[in-house]
Amino acid sequence: MYRTHTCGELRISDVGKSVTLSGWVQRTRKLGGMTFVDLRDRYGITQIVADGSQNAFMQEQLNELGREYVIQIQGIVIERESKNKHNPTGEIEITAHTITILNKAQLPPFTIEDDTDGGEEMRMKYRYLDIRRNPIRSNLELRHRMAQAIRKYLDTQGFLEIETPVLIGSTPEGARDFVVPSRVWPGQFYALPQSPQLFKQLLMVGGIDKYFQIVKCFRDEDLRADRQPEFTQIDCEMSFVEQQDIIAMFEGLAKFIFTEAKGVTFEGDFPQMTYADAMKYYGCDKPDIRFGMTIYELTTLMKGKDFKVIDDAQYVGAIVAPNCAAYTRKEIDELTEWVKRPQIGAKGLMYIKYNEDGTIKSSIDKFYSSQDLEQLCQECEAHAGDLLLIISGDQATTLNALCELRLELGNRLGFRPKDVFAPLWVVDFPLFEWDEESQRLYAKHHPFTSPKPEDIPLLDTNPQAVRANAYDFVVNGSEIGGGSIRIHNSELQAKMFSLLGFTPEQAQAQFGFLMGAFTYGAPPHGGLAFGFDRFVTILSGADSIRDVIAFPKNNAAKDLMAECPTEISQAQLEELCLQIRKK
Ligand code: AMO
Repeated sequence: MYRTHTCGELRISDVGKSVTLSGWVQRTRKLGGMTFVDLRDRYGITQIVADGSQNAFMQEQLNELGREYVIQIQGIVIERESKNKHNPTGEIEITAHTITILNKAQLPPFTIEDDTDGGEEMRMKYRYLDIRRNPIRSNLELRHRMAQAIRKYLDTQGFLEIETPVLIGSTPEGARDFVVPSRVWPGQFYALPQSPQLFKQLLMVGGIDKYFQIVKCFRDEDLRADRQPEFTQIDCEMSFVEQQDIIAMFEGLAKFIFTEAKGVTFEGDFPQMTYADAMKYYGCDKPDIRFGMTIYELTTLMKGKDFKVIDDAQYVGAIVAPNCAAYTRKEIDELTEWVKRPQIGAKGLMYIKYNEDGTIKSSIDKFYSSQDLEQLCQECEAHAGDLLLIISGDQATTLNALCELRLELGNRLGFRPKDVFAPLWVVDFPLFEWDEESQRLYAKHHPFTSPKPEDIPLLDTNPQAVRANAYDFVVNGSEIGGGSIRIHNSELQAKMFSLLGFTPEQAQAQFGFLMGAFTYGAPPHGGLAFGFDRFVTILSGADSIRDVIAFPKNNAAKDLMAECPTEISQAQLEELCLQIRKK
């Protein structure tokens, strides 16, 4: 028997027991003739004390022990003289009478400690060592608890967990597909699903009524801190539901997850905010509502003072940084450079300091009288001691810059604590968005999303004004989930495809099976998918989605450990009738 107990199990009540433990050597220390070994496994660390002076073989073993050696010890549990209150096993130690080295270990390339000296690249290359560290292990434990909670909740609500295919047809609407060549059908390709969207709708046509799946999805898109090329969704669909039914069901699920996995509870319903308000007050469709500092539009108020930067701008907006009027010139210059970085894209940053003593100082005194400046402070509900930060330019860039500046200042001012959770639903998304480059409409959510019934007449006259029955679930500024009520009528679906620029033939070729299914009695239906990895990231407080995935890809979409993607052999290429064109 390798062990009678784990390394996290023994307590003062076990004193006197004869035990066998197995695990990894965290560290060894020699004190007088005694050797102390911290023995670690997934469950904790137990201190082993061994006296090699009486036993030459044991002394030899002890001398050999290095970090991460896998050993087995047999001994007696005793009460420790100097107790360690920070460790659950810290009141006891084991006096070992036998030590067996089960496996030697090379010196690990980084320390297996909570605060490791390993850079991310090294940790990814030796991910199996990284997983031995508490932060990663505890994230994987949280992920497991959340998955269990999800299955428990959805099962009690009558959902069926059903798998959908991973080799499907390519539907290049949305992100880019990953494709898989077919050997049996040379020159033809499968695609990996970006989500099981069509299949879950077909399950509704099949009368399944309530479906869910914890499922891998694949998207070939540019990576960010919260994106992976393969990620996991908690994918759900229900029949005979309206938007509010879905929101109520999955708000219930979200609350259950928070409570079961994290012990966090919420009073009342999660707030709902329209897309229009989210854009207006927060500059984005995923507002972090843990703190205020909302955006004030000043376009009309500030124009007409012969100030080109304002007069030529499509939009002018401001945020108020509370108690920041004392910011130095240097600090404001640094913020200005921050918003001017290409990823933010603002042209500059104007400020008004509403000083503690009531005086006002600004970077735009040349164009605005002190009354004007006072009025701007009033409009933005600033108090003495506050700093107004103003950005102008085209509407989309400026709102985005204000949004990013707000979040950055929120971080710097300590308004975004990781253990406070502020969930909300963002509703009433537009059905379409216009793409300047390709001069066409795109579906904001996806092409199967239904318009709000009252907006259907606008499809012909002003499609960009049509609102969708679509909703996102947002926590702390992160889009955790999204979904919609679907179109369940083949004519409306055909109209949607035509507005998206598909010819009837193209629509038929790509989505014919769905539209065909809709002619056989499709129930009204809708659903949602939570991004599971993002949900775990938020609850764990991790900085990156990679910290909650056992074997993630890096931000260049590579698996540094398994070293993929890789080239394949000429024989494989030939079998698939593929030829690689060298770039
Ligand atoms: P959507 O595309 O909004 O909707 O995706 C749902 C949720 O999945 C997460 N997510 C990602 N997480 C990590 N890496 C990625 N690359 C990534 N892309 C998306 C987000 C997002 O909110 N079929 C629809 C759902 C539906 O309508 O029912 C869908 O996939 O948290």
